[in-house]
Amino acid sequence: MRKKPTNRFVLTLESRSANESFARLAVSGFAAQLDPTVEELCDLKTAVSEAVTNCIVHAYPDGLGEIRITGELFADGVVRIRVKDRGKGIEDIALAMQPLYSGLGGERAGLGFAVMESFCDRLSVRSTPGKGTCVTLQKQIRGRSGADGA
Ligand SMILES: Nc1ncnc2c1ncn2[C@@H]1O[C@H](COP(=O)(O)OP(=O)(O)OP(=O)(O)O)[C@@H](O)[C@H]1O
Ligand SMILES: [Mg+2]
Repeated sequence: MRKKPTNRFVLTLESRSANESFARLAVSGFAAQLDPTVEELCDLKTAVSEAVTNCIVHAYPDGLGEIRITGELFADGVVRIRVKDRGKGIEDIALAMQPLYSGLGGERAGLGFAVMESFCDRLSVRSTPGKGTCVTLQKQIRGRSGADGA
């Protein structure tokens, strides 16, 4: 278990595609407190964008629903973002996480989880069919004044 976060936010959004960029910018503004490099911030935004897009595209096939994003900062420079929906859930998480697998067949690339995995240090996916999905992304921000002096 990590220690208590030094800062935290909770944001609730409707699963409209217009809210994807809002979510990305909100997370980016929050993580900016850690003085990240441009690359670190880009990576985090890309990963969050994939997680939120999945809620918009897959979670609520019959209409709109709620997306709840929680952000936490920790004293050691880790940022943790949770993206949660109460939508249809994922039957087989291991299959869904395989690169190039998409539940929508050829309609989408099936690369969202692979992108999240490569742009973050930790990715965890919990899901219950009929109840919803929670994706947790964790990234260590070394920052512009990081140990390597870059
Ligand atoms: N929040 C979610 N709710 C329900 N199903 C999901 C959710 N997130 C992912 N999935 C399922 O996992 C599959 C894989 O997700 P992933 O993001 O890797 O690919 P994709 O969304 O299909 O394509 P891409 O992200 O490349 O556009 C999805 O096709 C979908 O079936
Ligand atoms: Mg996706």
